[in-house]
Amino acid sequence: MQIAIIGTGNVGGALARAWARAGHRIFLGVRNLQDQKVLALTTGGAQITAHPPAEAVRDAETVLFAIPPTALRQVLDNLGDLEGKVLIDATNSVRTRAGEFASVADALRSWTKSTDVVKCFNTTGFNVMENPQFGEMTADMFMAGSSSHAKEIARQLARDAGFAECYDLGGDERIPLLESLAAIWIDLAMVQGQGRNIAFKLLKW
Ligand SMILES: NC(=O)c1ccc[n+]([C@@H]2O[C@H](COP(=O)([O-])OP(=O)(O)OC[C@H]3O[C@@H](n4cnc5c(N)ncnc54)[C@H](OP(=O)(O)O)[C@@H]3O)[C@@H](O)[C@H]2O)c1
Repeated sequence: MQIAIIGTGNVGGALARAWARAGHRIFLGVRNLQDQKVLALTTGGAQITAHPPAEAVRDAETVLFAIPPTALRQVLDNLGDLEGKVLIDATNSVRTRAGEFASVADALRSWTKSTDVVKCFNTTGFNVMENPQFGEMTADMFMAGSSSHAKEIARQLARDAGFAECYDLGGDERIPLLESLAAIWIDLAMVQGQGRNIAFKLLKW
């Protein structure tokens, strides 16, 4: 799959590496092509390349947003038309927001022409996205959104990143659950002292 990643910090970098390992072609959309973390991501060969944002998304079928929500408006102003592309919101609106929207996914539906928006990859740390394996156990991922096509893509990409399963929490109206799950992860990791090496898993019998 041809994937553009907007925001190549902790989350964007981790998923770029994970998806490149799984054989996907990654186009990083960056502000500064000479940034050290961008250069580090692109030294591995032709699988990951860096471009100005509008160029990165041009041929991509899927675009991951891994930026601070407050940056979204400015980012979209420089991206061009996103119609027909699957947009994945990996952000958290726990501390900041995109305009008046409760999540970046809601803003993407309102501010772009894409009808395929999904929220995913926001409920665990970037370090877990690099390696979701916990001994014999493998972490799960969670997603929500009303586009079944976008959810199919997100589920595939979660598995390609090594997650055991990507559970569907429902349509757009269920997206607040994902923001809350992220807030619980952050609280456990940062406030309750559990540290970053934690992830959610659904246990069944
Ligand atoms: N950290 C985690 O474990 C984690 C887990 C799940 C979800 N999230 C969410 O994922 C998002 C990214 O988190 P992160 O930890 O990856 O952040 P980060 O390491 O600070 O990276 C943020 C990225 O966004 C880019 N950016 C910031 N402002 C921009 C603007 N105005 N225009 C274009 N690009 C801009 C930065 O570009 P420059 O390098 O050019 O500044 C950088 O590449 C946040 O919404 C966060 O809540 C984080």
